[in-house]
Amino acid sequence: MADQTLLDYTQRCVKAEKETERLATQLQALSNGNLGDIDIDDKEYLDLLNENAKLKYRIGILKRNVESLGGDACSLAPNVDFSRHMCNILGHLEEVFTSAVLKAYPDVTNPVVQIQVSKHADYQCNAALALAKTLKKNPREVGDTVLKAVADDPVISKLDLSGPGFINIYLNQNFIREQVTNVVLNGVTPPPTVPERVVVDFSSPNIAKEMHVGHLRSTIIGDSICRLLEFLGHDVLRINHLGDWGTQFGMLIAHLKDTYPDFANNPPPIADLQAFYKESKKRFDEDEAFKKRAYEAVVQLQAHDPVHIKGWEEICDISKQEFQKVYERLQIRIVNRGESFYQSRMESLVKELNAAGLLEEDEGRKVMFAEGAEIPLTVVKSDGGFTYDTSDMACLKQRIEEEKGRWLIYVTDAGQSQHFKSFLACAKKAKFYNPSKVRVDHVTFGVVLGEDKKKFKTRSGDTVRLVDLLNEGCQRSEEKLKEKERDKVLTSEEFIKARDAVAYGCIKYADLSHDRSRDYIFSFDRMLDFRGNTAAYLLYALTRIRSIARTAGVKRENIISEAQKGPVLLDHEKEWKLARTLLKLPDVLIKITEDLYIHPLCEYLYEVSSVFTEFYDTCYCVEKDQTGKIVKINHGRLILCEAVAVIMEKCFAILGIETVSKM
Ligand code: ARG
Repeated sequence: MADQTLLDYTQRCVKAEKETERLATQLQALSNGNLGDIDIDDKEYLDLLNENAKLKYRIGILKRNVESLGGDACSLAPNVDFSRHMCNILGHLEEVFTSAVLKAYPDVTNPVVQIQVSKHADYQCNAALALAKTLKKNPREVGDTVLKAVADDPVISKLDLSGPGFINIYLNQNFIREQVTNVVLNGVTPPPTVPERVVVDFSSPNIAKEMHVGHLRSTIIGDSICRLLEFLGHDVLRINHLGDWGTQFGMLIAHLKDTYPDFANNPPPIADLQAFYKESKKRFDEDEAFKKRAYEAVVQLQAHDPVHIKGWEEICDISKQEFQKVYERLQIRIVNRGESFYQSRMESLVKELNAAGLLEEDEGRKVMFAEGAEIPLTVVKSDGGFTYDTSDMACLKQRIEEEKGRWLIYVTDAGQSQHFKSFLACAKKAKFYNPSKVRVDHVTFGVVLGEDKKKFKTRSGDTVRLVDLLNEGCQRSEEKLKEKERDKVLTSEEFIKARDAVAYGCIKYADLSHDRSRDYIFSFDRMLDFRGNTAAYLLYALTRIRSIARTAGVKRENIISEAQKGPVLLDHEKEWKLARTLLKLPDVLIKITEDLYIHPLCEYLYEVSSVFTEFYDTCYCVEKDQTGKIVKINHGRLILCEAVAVIMEKCFAILGIETVSKM
């Protein structure tokens, strides 16, 4: 098997390398100004650059894999032992068919082999059609040649040719039966992954300001990405890049000195930091003398004067405690490392950039230009201070050089795209960031809108406080559960658990189930609807699935020991459909890891619950007589129910949604 893996990988390497070369040629033509017949605009150019970087990065991984196969580090091999691991069927079939194409037609340079779900068979491969065009051959003939070149494979039971050259793929029933049974026995195992050091920058609110819905989106999306990557086996560093440095601290400290002169000995009892911020801002705008003292305070702070540092710390602590409350409610783990952390690094960075002659004077400021940066970076302001640009440059360098990050992810609103493009382009020019060695993703998202489709605001037009939003969610969820008379069947402890799981689950799911790049409408009514693709519905569906065995008096141990006896039967058409649906999970996880769009996982979760309903409506799991007495238990089907629950729970876990056993 190792030989086959090595072969597959070498072929994939060759494929990726060719693709890179092709792109590189295009890029070269572009940079020479040979636009010729390459019809490319700026956006496409950037996309190409990006694509090129990703491919180069992938080649790195593939090469390392091939190397590791030379030794005995087979744990990194993508062809894992399917008797213990879940197979990523689609990806696996793509590899099998790519190998077949390359075996049948060794001269083909860039075979694009895509596998689709089929109505007539289980899957279908249409590669022959495109291939026939390139080869100027009859597609049916090409299809037949490819079909014959497919190696024996445990996943495939049968292949046949249909239409003008489609290859129908039928999955091996025994393989699927074993795979589903394994889900019950071993849980969901991650698809093959080369572990990397990943730094995820998310949430990142600003000190002394309210965390707003934009930060909520970043928190929810970022946390889910971390959970996904952690599950895949990556080494993930979760960072809260707090806005805790900058000129606003001057006015805050000056105001602190006036209102709580003894702050250095007694921490100020500031209950409402936003109000405190507003007061100091008002004074700063209206009172010249105060403004002057505010500026002096910044200078003292940046010079690390102990008293000023103390005041700054106290203000930061108050904010951090507020943020922490939100994180605890939403079960978010994150490490605080704000902009201030980079102060000394910014100083040395500026020296380096200066020495390399990369900075230019512009009306007292020091700026940096780079290809790809539409607006220049402001590295040093005219008063000598640093900016958001400077801290992100220094931070990027720190994450690459000190944290040894191989994959850096930033989760912010799409409004910051320009900023990210610019500092990345400058970092590349300054040569501490090499896109072929380090993958960087700016994971952007759209704006949160109110039900009136305008920017999400309270009735009085203020920004919505996150704490109020979470409180309202809990209250609405409570009403909903009471409406369904759940308070009459649950203990008060169970009721509170269900209320919170539904409230936070719904808020998270509403966000994650939408294409993140679009704006989305925040509506409690919609997210708490017990019908359709909502967390309320899905969490409830899961508790119902879990209750099937429970009400039949069958314990989990019994299901496990039944599963140990041998692979579950999949005789009924709906059982077969359900099993195949369950086994799509690894492919979904691989797909969402490629572009970090999470919503396909939500679509998948909804599909699982719908296919389960189809199965449950036609296939009896537990049969009862007229009196309600159980007359027959179909243990095989209880194994299937258990597999559904395990899969759904894994999806919820990756989405960061807590499940409950009763609601
Ligand atoms: N504090 C920023 C904001 O509220 C987000 C920071 C994102 N991270 C970064 N490295 N720039 O918009």
